[in-house]
Amino acid sequence: MKQIVAAVFLILVIISLIVVAFTIRQVDVEQKSLKIDLQYRTTLLAETLKESIEPNFLSKTGTSLQKIVDKFENKERFAGLAIYNNKGNIIAVSSSLPKDVSKTQTIAAHAMDEDKANGDFVKYQDKRMYLFAVPLRDKESVLGALMLVQNADYIDDKLIEIWRNNLVRLFVQALLLSIATLIIMRWIIFQPIVNIVDSIKMTRTGRIDDTPKRFPKYLFFQPLVNEVAKINRSLLEARLVASEEARLRLEKTDSPWTAERLKEYIKEILKGRSIYVISNREPYIHTKDGNKVKYFVPASGMVTAIEPIMEACGGMWIAHGSGDADKLVVDTNDRIQVPPDEPKYTLRRVWITPEEEKGYYYGFSNEGLWPLCHIAHTRPVFRKEDWYEYEKVNGKFAKTVLGEIKNVHRPLIFIQDYHFALLPRMIKASRPDADIGIFWHIPWPNPEAFSICPWRKEILDGILGSDLIGFHTQYHCNNFMDTVGKELESLISWEQFAITKGGHVSYVKPFPISIAFSNGSMYKVDEKTRKHEETVIRKKHDIKTKYIGLGVDRLDYTKGILERFKAVEMFLETYPFYKNQFTFVQIAAPSRSDIIRYQEFAKEVEEEVERINDKFKIKDWKPIILLKRHHSHEEIYSYYRLANVCLVTSLHDGMNLVAKEFVSARDDGKGVLIVSQFAGVSRELRDAIIVNPYNAEQVAEAIKKSLEMPQSEQKRQMKKMDQTIKSYNIYRWSAEILKTMVSFV
Ligand code: F6P
Repeated sequence: MKQIVAAVFLILVIISLIVVAFTIRQVDVEQKSLKIDLQYRTTLLAETLKESIEPNFLSKTGTSLQKIVDKFENKERFAGLAIYNNKGNIIAVSSSLPKDVSKTQTIAAHAMDEDKANGDFVKYQDKRMYLFAVPLRDKESVLGALMLVQNADYIDDKLIEIWRNNLVRLFVQALLLSIATLIIMRWIIFQPIVNIVDSIKMTRTGRIDDTPKRFPKYLFFQPLVNEVAKINRSLLEARLVASEEARLRLEKTDSPWTAERLKEYIKEILKGRSIYVISNREPYIHTKDGNKVKYFVPASGMVTAIEPIMEACGGMWIAHGSGDADKLVVDTNDRIQVPPDEPKYTLRRVWITPEEEKGYYYGFSNEGLWPLCHIAHTRPVFRKEDWYEYEKVNGKFAKTVLGEIKNVHRPLIFIQDYHFALLPRMIKASRPDADIGIFWHIPWPNPEAFSICPWRKEILDGILGSDLIGFHTQYHCNNFMDTVGKELESLISWEQFAITKGGHVSYVKPFPISIAFSNGSMYKVDEKTRKHEETVIRKKHDIKTKYIGLGVDRLDYTKGILERFKAVEMFLETYPFYKNQFTFVQIAAPSRSDIIRYQEFAKEVEEEVERINDKFKIKDWKPIILLKRHHSHEEIYSYYRLANVCLVTSLHDGMNLVAKEFVSARDDGKGVLIVSQFAGVSRELRDAIIVNPYNAEQVAEAIKKSLEMPQSEQKRQMKKMDQTIKSYNIYRWSAEILKTMVSFV
């Protein structure tokens, strides 16, 4: 619409300029013609009068001359006349003539001096007048002068009228033209183009299109419509071929898992059943930016993993609406189609109060369960009031899910993470026909560590409402089975990895989560773009060193950021050669900053960076650059492509997808990955350099080894890790989970 208004405005400006130019010209011509006409009429009148005044001028008395003068009063547009003797004195004058005019002798004097007629347009008291004088003479000499005065105001009036008429005409024309342009642009051009674009988009995204109905019928669009229809047809055919190929590949385990293959596979195994994903964190957060609304994808491993599945399979994702503009963009059922730029599935937002968020999210989930499951030496805090909110919010989500699946036969419910330990049981109790899976994205501790939780039995019982319980590693599955064995009355089968409680069987299985990496590199760029990115990043942060190290994390005490900085310090101390040669860039996304421990941690990180930078800085070099803000995936990938070494040194981590992302970014085969032995990813990417994050000397040695590693070795390692991730990417991960969920029934 903005473009249309701008186009209309431009047209109006052009028309106005044309009309104004045309009017100036018209006024000029009209003015000249009116003046000539007045001058002509005045000359004629003067000649006539002259003939009756001149004979015996000298013998005529003032009274007889005055009589002649009076005869010509009150004529239309005629202001009056005056007769002068050759000394310049008035001897007869019309009473109607303004005094200042009659006193003006210059024009009459001029006529007498030159002995020829003389006239001019003058302004008296804001009135335009035409003064015309002719000499009065006998045979020998000039005896006096006759001056005629004409009102010329009507010329200005006429010109003003022309302006007024033209401007009114301009206004009416502009109005009509704006309406016509608006109609033409909006309905005849803009809307059809939007329809064509939508149609291409729908075909591209594999949705059914009623193309012919929505295509414009106008003749001049026909060539475009024909071409677009052909493109659409080709796209549809290509999609059908791809989907057929994907279907044929389903059983061939060696072919890569792609979004297409997953889609076909899911069609095959679900046979039309609907999928519902439930998580606390939503995949798109809408926020206010002045009076605009924008959105961003949060820094979350869970979102990174689940989003591509939803994009491939559709369905509904139910999550907490946490953005300050979230409510503004949903429909009356609190739903919004996402991704916002190319909708593929439904995001259903659930609203919780600040009090609920404080107790359920910040409190029990992140001050209780998070430190309980991550052995990172931050003590969990368990408060009764937090537990109360946790139960309440789980109940709220259960109600929402039950509402959404009310009329759905055998729905598939896939719950994410530790925020919803009670949800599986709550749903199962009302809908035993639903297949419920829960994936625990964080580690599961050993039974002793878990036993300090006052509500451990309720949590375990809630989780056991699921048909399938997934962890990243076998080790976490074992810990869970041990914990249930210790805490609950149940039947545990170590052969089948199943727990039977109250007649219901829950299977416990490892599914190492991954990323959407199937072929090529992720967010691939060509060499020119890569070089440009490098120049931009180096310039932006004033990095001149040969080597760059990278860390990408949420600002969380489990990620081992402080220990990593210690290792950088140790590295520079032990190998001073690398001073001024190595820069470590730490991307740190602010996280859970309402929790005091997180605030303290953020401060500790900043202080540590300052301390180490102060210790080593040389001129404009400093060893650590801390980028404390949210970065988009595209931005992070440009750092991945640049780094010589990436450090994923969590103190404890379920999986850690940063490690997999780094590998997926390096289609050049360069770069070295260092991972913590306490992150799930170390079990999979065995070709990375595996370290104990608490051992600063060991990590420092690993940094040195990385920077000095021959490129052939870097490529060998990268290739192997690349293959591992591609063969078990996120599409395979979800295919395996969903297949397991449905095959138990
Ligand atoms: O990856 C583990 C995880 O807990 C996710 O479940 C979560 O989305 C992510 O960390 C980020 O945490 P938060 O959602 O609290 O910002």
